[in-house]
Amino acid sequence: MNGSERIEQALNTIEETFYAAEGMAYLGEDVTMIQHQLQAGALAVGCSDALVVASLLHDIGHVIGRPEGEDHAVQALTNDRDAHHDASGARWLSRWFAPDVTEPVRLHVAAKRYLVATEPGYATKLSEASAHTLRLQGGPMSPQQVQEFEAIAYAQDAVTLRRLDDAAKDGTRDAPGFDAHRDLLLMMLANTAERNSAHGVAGTTAAWCAITLATNDRSADDACHERCFRWEVVEPG
Ligand SMILES: [Fe+2]
Repeated sequence: MNGSERIEQALNTIEETFYAAEGMAYLGEDVTMIQHQLQAGALAVGCSDALVVASLLHDIGHVIGRPEGEDHAVQALTNDRDAHHDASGARWLSRWFAPDVTEPVRLHVAAKRYLVATEPGYATKLSEASAHTLRLQGGPMSPQQVQEFEAIAYAQDAVTLRRLDDAAKDGTRDAPGFDAHRDLLLMMLANTAERNSAHGVAGTTAAWCAITLATNDRSADDACHERCFRWEVVEPG
């Protein structure tokens, strides 16, 4: 399989997974999961390319864990537990995308907890379902957690994504479909493939450096790129 075929295959996997949410409700909101993510992607136009992709795919963690014929996200909510879709989605996306995409996804639930703790009136604007999951997700951050969150790379992008997430629940609004983002996704996937080949790693899929992911530290990210570029190649799945 050549490079462009690998990129096409990666895009197909992402698109198939995106549409695996067909018919899936979005946690008691007025939009379906697909409408919600399309609206978030559309609202992000004008942000960085990475943030557009992050917005479009931010809830993919709800979908990848979806058992056949069951609604994983709603099931978790019904059972009053947090499905940790933020972490699972970011991990899944890290096969193809860099931390500028995966970190806002991983932190978008933390960003809600952050905004509730730091922005007067934010909590009152949350939808009923989002207020319910806030409790399951740990409630407002403590002052210590606020400080720690602010020090994480991409925390501000996560806050931006969170606001788009909150706004993307309008049952009356149409948003362009997945196809509208196809060129951007192809470009981002090609960037990964290019970086991989520049560092002697074949293929399109790669998980970003373990140091970066473990420390969430931008300086570790830079240092890693300079020193090791240690890619962990993961088979497409
Ligand atoms: Fe969302």
